[in-house]
Amino acid sequence: MSEEKYIPKNKLTKWFDSRLPLLTLSHHLKSYPTPKNLNYWWTFGGILTFCLITQIITGLVLAMHYVAHVDYAFQSIEHIMRDVNYGWLIRYVHANGASMFFLAVYIHIFRSLFYGSYKAPREVIWIIGLLIYILMMATAFMGYVLPWGQMSFWGATVITNLFSAIPFVGESITTWLWGGYSVDNPTLNRFYSLHYLLPFLTFGLVILHIWALHIPGNNNPVGIDVKKNSNETMPFHPYMVMKDLLALLLFISVFLWFVFFAPNVLGHPDNYIEANPLVTPAHIVPEWYLLPFYAILRAIPSKLGGVIFMFAAIFILMLLPWLDTSKVRSAIFRPIYKKLFWVLLFVVILLGYLGAKPPEGIYLILSRLATAYYFIHFLVILPLLGRYEKTDPLPQSISDPVLDKPGMLDKFKKSAAEYEGENVESFK
Ligand code: HEM
Repeated sequence: MSEEKYIPKNKLTKWFDSRLPLLTLSHHLKSYPTPKNLNYWWTFGGILTFCLITQIITGLVLAMHYVAHVDYAFQSIEHIMRDVNYGWLIRYVHANGASMFFLAVYIHIFRSLFYGSYKAPREVIWIIGLLIYILMMATAFMGYVLPWGQMSFWGATVITNLFSAIPFVGESITTWLWGGYSVDNPTLNRFYSLHYLLPFLTFGLVILHIWALHIPGNNNPVGIDVKKNSNETMPFHPYMVMKDLLALLLFISVFLWFVFFAPNVLGHPDNYIEANPLVTPAHIVPEWYLLPFYAILRAIPSKLGGVIFMFAAIFILMLLPWLDTSKVRSAIFRPIYKKLFWVLLFVVILLGYLGAKPPEGIYLILSRLATAYYFIHFLVILPLLGRYEKTDPLPQSISDPVLDKPGMLDKFKKSAAEYEGENVESFK
């Protein structure tokens, strides 16, 4: 399908659109040519947009009742849970929503890794995506401090203390971040202020992310370039919209299962104990979605080294479009990369598991091995694999993998003819 140009129908729309082309934009979004072979892994971008909007709306309502003061924060959360109408629901949607947001973003990132969506010409989409991911982690970290439970306080203490490892200026930076000499009321206030601000910055970045996506258009499971004005594409509305909606409904079902049947299973019970600077919890652990990075942080024997490796684990992904030197995008045609993709996924999940365990004995050894593998994957394996891997031959068109199957073309022609016939009948 080729994308048709928007032509305003009357004087008013012509007047308005020539001054601010919002109608042209909405027409473009509807008729945007989408590769017809996109699978359900491509529905997560829409799901993520839903997650961001849900977090902003529920967050706004929570902010109407939350009190950002160390003497009242914990009680104000209990007040929301018990006294505010449907406060428990809004809070559980917001807290579990954060987990669902990260679940969706991890699927979205690993989808990109499998199908090589970060490769040229989509490097900027990928880098903006990573900036969004970093903002998401900062927002989630600061949000977790707000209920002022034991994990809030001690999590904030551990993570902000990491900056003190920076030589010479580290201590000053930490004091500056805290707004004092420990995590206290000024820290809670600034975290609240930033927790409120960052989702809106994220929203702005999402607009840039989608804008950048609309320049080259979507990648697809086969990973070859799609001829935009051909029968290889179809308009975004209604085809992808309906597919996205179905996936979204399934996603919401899982989301609501957590909200209604296991609202606290993803959280830590210690956060139902009010923050106490005099009692340190036995194990300080972040939320599940930050655990792989926490494992890397603790795998390195020195504090500064841990901080460097933890940040490097994220920033190395920025270089991925250049570290992966293969000309072929999709793992479907890269037999060795395909296997190593699953190894990487396993290693990241393993790091997540190890991040929740005490850093000693076998857990520490495994953390070190997994951290080493993570970096070797990106810095050594991918550059070499791009050069030496023997890839499978690529099809000429995204339709080939379907139509090339024996008898498929005839079957397709037959059903197309039947469908046409039916349509002709129903119109008569
Ligand atoms: C709030 C978070 C995010 C939102 C709302 C979002 C939204 C979207 C949407 C709507 C698409 C097009 C549909 C799709 O491919 O699923 C997309 C594509 C893409 N996103 Fe994101 N995204 C987010 C985060 C990320 C992150 C964290 C990354 C990577 C680190 C990323 C990387 C990409 C890439 C590479 C594509 C191109 C996909 C392709 O055509 O193959 N996104 N995103």
